[in-house]
Amino acid sequence: MSEAIERVGVVGAGLMGAGIAEVAAKAGSSVIVCEMNAAAAAAGRDRIESSLNRAVDRGKLDPGERDAALARVSFVTDLHDLADRQLVIEAVREIEEEKVEIFSTVSKAFIDDEAIIASNTSSIPIMKLAMATTRPDHVLGLHFFNPVPVMRLVELIPSIVTDVDVVNRAEDYVSGVLGKHVVRSQDRAGFIVNALFVPYVISAIRMLESGFASAEDIDAGMVEGCSHPMGPLALADMIGLDTIKHVADSMYDEFKEPLYSSPPLLSRMVEANLLGRKTGRGFFSYTR
Ligand code: CAA
Repeated sequence: MSEAIERVGVVGAGLMGAGIAEVAAKAGSSVIVCEMNAAAAAAGRDRIESSLNRAVDRGKLDPGERDAALARVSFVTDLHDLADRQLVIEAVREIEEEKVEIFSTVSKAFIDDEAIIASNTSSIPIMKLAMATTRPDHVLGLHFFNPVPVMRLVELIPSIVTDVDVVNRAEDYVSGVLGKHVVRSQDRAGFIVNALFVPYVISAIRMLESGFASAEDIDAGMVEGCSHPMGPLALADMIGLDTIKHVADSMYDEFKEPLYSSPPLLSRMVEANLLGRKTGRGFFSYTR
């Protein structure tokens, strides 16, 4: 029988990767995070530390638990240093070629034959990543939501060749150890949540683009009228407009449905580096 998962690797320490590393460390796992260089690793560490501090400020964590969690996370800049991990979760940008390269390298480096490699992709079919590895049956999708420490859901996506034991071990870890609510989806671009969420956000952008209503009023409509915690345009700014566009493009590529096609305004904003909170301006402006 395979051992319970205790050693986790995370590739990428951006918004999602840092969040995944944080929840894994808080749950007691040993976590190694791989970033491209020392500066990106330092930025990732700061992200984790400030989120843990926020949790302490809001009374969700005591300072001792924060320090213990931070001590469980280490950073490397070479994917081969993930060789002893039982589970590696890739959370880099939504660019298929980048992910394929990582899947190929990590799967060859693994020491343990039972090691699992998962992607936090929002939209790229898992089969495409699995075929880049030496062990497609040990690959699956684990899609977390932003902000990871707060959002309870994780989509679990087996490909058509994922081993059933791999699926069960991953579910035991995400649900039993991380305490997340797991839903299973077929391996279709966008999975469950983005298949519903992307057309909604795209509709809001088209509404703004056509002059139908202002950004403030569109968001107020959904916050005040439907009790959503954030409006669609503020949420798009939080996720990053580049990510929204990558996700929409993958879904359009898969289904060729107009409801997934990126509106010109979204494309122009991405070209202009108006990516939302991370660049200080998207549909709204932010002071950094
Ligand atoms: N660690 C632990 N808990 C934290 C925390 C942290 N770093 N930061 C905040 N929290 C907790 C707070 O304690 C609070 O908990 P209670 O409700 O129990 O008191 C809760 O989170 C809310 O925090 P705040 O009061 O500080 O903030 P807020 O009320 O302004 O909410 C928000 C912020 C959670 C982001 C909220 O606006 C929200 O839920 N927005 C929608 C987020 C969403 O839809 N995410 C999904 C995006 S789609 C995606 O990610 C996938 C994709 O593929 C694109």
